[in-house]
Amino acid sequence: MQRFEAYLKANLPDIDTFHPYYNKAMRAMLLAGGKRFRPMLLLSVVEAYEPLLFEGALAPAFALELLHTYSLIHDDLPAMDNASLRRGLKTLHVTYDESTAILIGDALNTEAFYHLSKAPLRDDIKIKLIELLARDGGTYGMVLGQSIDIHFENIPLTLEQIKELHRNKTAKLIATSLQMGAVIIGLEKKKQEELYQFGIDLGLLFQIQDDIIDETQSEEEAGKTTGNDGDKNSFINLIGLETTIEEAEALVKTVEQQFNGFDEQLQSGLKDIVQKYLYRHR
Ligand code: IPE
Ligand code: IPE
Ligand code: MG
Ligand code: MG
Ligand code: MG
Repeated sequence: MQRFEAYLKANLPDIDTFHPYYNKAMRAMLLAGGKRFRPMLLLSVVEAYEPLLFEGALAPAFALELLHTYSLIHDDLPAMDNASLRRGLKTLHVTYDESTAILIGDALNTEAFYHLSKAPLRDDIKIKLIELLARDGGTYGMVLGQSIDIHFENIPLTLEQIKELHRNKTAKLIATSLQMGAVIIGLEKKKQEELYQFGIDLGLLFQIQDDIIDETQSEEEAGKTTGNDGDKNSFINLIGLETTIEEAEALVKTVEQQFNGFDEQLQSGLKDIVQKYLYRHR
């Protein structure tokens, strides 16, 4: 974690320009912190099998955080969730203006792929990483999920549809973080797929917990605008808090089962991060 934070700080975009706050706005949400859940997943897989590749894995881990941070900046825009607090700070469209928040999001999105393309890894591995990040962080994953999320505000979906929404907007990027780690260390295809499926369930749980946080935590506790899901197809709005917690508990069992099927190396690599986030709804 410390090595990742140091890498992030050392690799923040630093653009030579006469724009008065382009760099500052670009850096603000990255420096504000966050759980770094996706980079930690990638790095934990690499550390589990090939600690010597850790250094080379920092660039793709940072790419994940760049893309995720862009998604948060756009998620908070007035046209999307209209939120004023993120990672304990005012959102960019509040500090600056809407066009700045849109453009900084765009910049962080492309910066993710620019940074990844320059990683000290084999070209064929980098192309695979770019493919996974683009697929699950974009058209076929996060952006699709966000589109469904926004389009169906105040139009109730079924529970299965909400799960599909959550898998797209959140779980696929989490699953791809694990698979990217597996690609870096050359893990066999079958194990890659097992990790990906585990990540889909873990990511669905992560978003259900996020829905619970919106309902139960204050802005100070969460560091972001909460009580903001009134128009959403959240688990809470469809089935209520109690049943949502039951759904989360059922998913915990599925995730634990998959985790227990992993080999010893992988279990010990992922243990800390899984322990930290699996039970956060309790
Ligand atoms: C928030 O993500 C949005 C979701 C996809 C649930 P995180 O909960 O990972 O936010 P940070 O990165 O810690 O700020
Ligand atoms: C956002 O989900 C998922 C993203 C792809 C950014 P939410 O809208 O629930 O995330 P928060 O609660 O604002 O962090
Ligand atoms: Mg949203
Ligand atoms: Mg939001
Ligand atoms: Mg939320």
